[in-house]
Amino acid sequence: MSHSNIQDPVISRQTPRSDFSIDQCWLEYTADEHAVWDLLYARQLDILKDRAAPEFLKGLKTLELSRTGIPDLKRLNPALKALTGWEIIMVPHLVPDDVFFTHLANRRFPAGRFIRRRDQLDYLQEPDVFHDIFGHVPMLANPVFADYMQAYGQGGLRALNLGTLKNLARLYWYTVEFGLIDSPEGLRIYGAGIVSSFGESQYALENSEPNRIAFELNRIMRTEYEIDKFQKSYFVINDYNQLFDATQQDFGPIYERLKADTTSYGTDQIIAADSLIR
Ligand code: PHE
Ligand code: FE
Repeated sequence: MSHSNIQDPVISRQTPRSDFSIDQCWLEYTADEHAVWDLLYARQLDILKDRAAPEFLKGLKTLELSRTGIPDLKRLNPALKALTGWEIIMVPHLVPDDVFFTHLANRRFPAGRFIRRRDQLDYLQEPDVFHDIFGHVPMLANPVFADYMQAYGQGGLRALNLGTLKNLARLYWYTVEFGLIDSPEGLRIYGAGIVSSFGESQYALENSEPNRIAFELNRIMRTEYEIDKFQKSYFVINDYNQLFDATQQDFGPIYERLKADTTSYGTDQIIAADSLIR
């Protein structure tokens, strides 16, 4: 696989550590790279102020991700650590599953160093620093969500051993990346894949095409997903405790059932047990 960030000289000159991390070398971002962040930030904030979950907006504000330019981890990490014990590390490209889960289980979130080019504002093959930091970090400032992410890392290591990662990955996809929440103010976005996308931030809430289905753990673990299109189904939680509590149970019996009956649901499929949200 070719990596879209290979032209980032600060990445290519470094030999990653055994945990795949590299240095951010924040001083070496160019003025243009910072300007791309600012452009993306301004564009997203404008559409997210009444679409993103209150907890996401709170995280953005508390961590001052609104300061101009790509965040400097030397400033961001102490602030995030003080809130929930999480820190961000930089990686050169996507890391192997076991490495990713081990980082999460230790409250470290791996983020890409590179930022997309100006001609790629809306489509990326691989997560960049805007998706990873703007998209994921605000929710890591929320204590319940922070615990969920760590538990997911532990669960990921287990699923890897049991050969059930395909099912568990769907949970990450439909919550961490593309989750919606039914907040007191109405339907809101908390998924990083949506909040970091200009088009999908509007589509996920306002378009009449996609299904919006009440969160159901077993259902999600049977639901396929597509990585290169807007979603055809979103799953809606009531609050973050619902997510955390539902995933605290031992997944062993769930995995047994998934192995015994391998029924899966298509991306746009609705089943009788679904409870549809507007
Ligand atoms: N409880 C899950 C297990 O037994 C682990 C997990 C926690 C998975 C949180 C996802 C999210 O494997
Ligand atoms: Fe992501």
